Amino acid sequence: MKYIAVVTSGGDAPGMNAAVRSVVRTGIDLGFKMFGVKRGFAGLLQNEGVELGIRDVSGVLQSGGTFLGTARCEEYKKLIAQKKCLTNLQNRGVEGLIVIGGDGSQKGAYALHKLGLPVVGVASTVDNDLYGSDISIGADTALNTIIESIDKIKTTALSHQRAFLVEVMGRKYGYLAMIAGIAGGAEIVITPEFEMEPEKIAAELKKAYKKGKKYALVIVTDGAKNNAQKITTYFKEHSQEIDYELRVTVLGHVQRGGSPSVFDRLLATRLGGAAVKALDEGTSGKLIGWIEGKVALTSLKEVAQKRKVLDLNTWELAKVLAR
Ligand code: F6P
Repeated sequence: MKYIAVVTSGGDAPGMNAAVRSVVRTGIDLGFKMFGVKRGFAGLLQNEGVELGIRDVSGVLQSGGTFLGTARCEEYKKLIAQKKCLTNLQNRGVEGLIVIGGDGSQKGAYALHKLGLPVVGVASTVDNDLYGSDISIGADTALNTIIESIDKIKTTALSHQRAFLVEVMGRKYGYLAMIAGIAGGAEIVITPEFEMEPEKIAAELKKAYKKGKKYALVIVTDGAKNNAQKITTYFKEHSQEIDYELRVTVLGHVQRGGSPSVFDRLLATRLGGAAVKALDEGTSGKLIGWIEGKVALTSLKEVAQKRKVLDLNTWELAKVLAR
């Protein structure tokens, strides 16, 4: 193998650039020519990309987002589009691909592996919901951003003795909400795994005030059935009966931005380098993730089929601490 490509795909995550840098420099060190696909699978379909040399990845280590660009590409889910991507790579002489991204992207990586292209994935998503990695690139930075925001919100919550609801990312996996709940000191954490009806939330918050709390904090995952919008509607409709104020902050895409933390830079550097080495050793169809403090390889088939389960011990701890 002489020529390998790297693509960043799906939602961007802080640390993706550090991973590309590591892939490119490790690849060149091992004697590969490197190609960077632009705009994720959408760009691969349109045959967009650039040759990447050592200096093309200078100055990107500390920057958030992905300088290669990314996209969500519905069309790529079709076999005909996947075959077109394979042809585009083969016509350039590319013999291996590294896919940096979350679960949708790794399903896409698995599709190309099944078509016969040597493919290795790198775990990267702020949601940290990817099977095959205890922690994915971007999740730590997102958590730091969330905690910084919560700390600020708490000062105004205390001043006004208000309850605050903060919606965080995560889709169907409550990791960000759970960890932010513990590290940020929330009274209630609502996730797709642990839903709570709005009337119960209202009652629990009332209890918190009765217990002598000066303010209260609720954290909810964007993918929960009772998300910020649903809870806000309930509180508006029942404002006559509720004798405290609830303010709502949806953190949104600010969580995906910013400079990657030290942890994410290191993780991205380790996983990126390991991905190139795996391809070089003839590995294909694997996700490069981080399990129990080490680089770990998991089959992309498993990654595509299995769901990560939220740690229940952490959940129990969160409840004990919110007294
Ligand atoms: O998967 C990453 C993520 O940031 C989710 O947490 C969030 O629900 C979603 O992407 C937002 O997607 P988009 O950037 O396409 O609006």
